[in-house]
Amino acid sequence: MSDSSGRSSSGPEGAAMPLPGVYPEDLECDVTTSAGAVMHMRPIRPDDADELVHFHLNLSSGSVYRRYFAFHPELSQREVEHLTTVDYVDRLAFIVETDDRLVAVGRYDRIPATDEAEVAFLVTDEFQNHGLGLLLLKHLADAARHRGITTFTAETQADNRGMLGVFKDSGFPVTSSIEEEVVSVSFPIEPTEESRARYAGRTRPSDRQPPTSPT
Ligand SMILES: CC(C)(COP(=O)(O)OP(=O)(O)OC[C@H]1O[C@@H](n2cnc3c(N)ncnc32)[C@H](O)[C@@H]1OP(=O)(O)O)[C@@H](O)C(=O)NCCC(=O)NCCS
Repeated sequence: MSDSSGRSSSGPEGAAMPLPGVYPEDLECDVTTSAGAVMHMRPIRPDDADELVHFHLNLSSGSVYRRYFAFHPELSQREVEHLTTVDYVDRLAFIVETDDRLVAVGRYDRIPATDEAEVAFLVTDEFQNHGLGLLLLKHLADAARHRGITTFTAETQADNRGMLGVFKDSGFPVTSSIEEEVVSVSFPIEPTEESRARYAGRTRPSDRQPPTSPT
């Protein structure tokens, strides 16, 4: 059930809806890449700003272009603030870290007053095609469902085989349309037998200590 803002009054199986602005520590976990490396995944925090700037500066111009549909070598301070400050309900981003370095970001933004959210992903060049895009999509979908979102949408360039591969391989029933070399995709995020099989064994609870002062 949804109210006029598109939010459910409770999550699946009657679970309480997470509160906006409260850092969801329970979403922290460790994930295994397709190369067998174990990395830490957690919701983004405002104090990730410096790491995000560094991450962006080290991306190839091609990767940045794929994400922003423009050449955009540096993030402005305002963008960094917007990208790192989320409410964890209508806007949520996960980062992936290895050796305390940010190597991937995936996010959803709810389309106001709907049960739909737009997703976007960016994986550092060195770790592209290691399964992080798929893992981010799975964790975003799980978190979004608990926050009253039913459908993900995205826009990507028609020749972005990596992004289209992630959606195609996710096990979600993706529908798409194309206009002027931009593919729009949409899919319900309820798990399917295929999506469960796709992600089996790739995530485990984190053995890291929780942060001392979560924001
Ligand atoms: C697109 C992107 C997010 C995909 O993430 P990723 O971690 O590289 O993708 P994954 O390793 O999870 O790949 C998932 C599947 O997609 C397919 N795939 C990935 N990269 C591919 C490529 N370059 N060519 C063809 N298929 C590809 C594979 O089938 C893969 O499945 P597999 O693990 O069974 O091989 C990442 O490559 C990226 O950040 N690119 C630059 C920015 C960008 O394009 N962002 C999207 C903007 S909407």
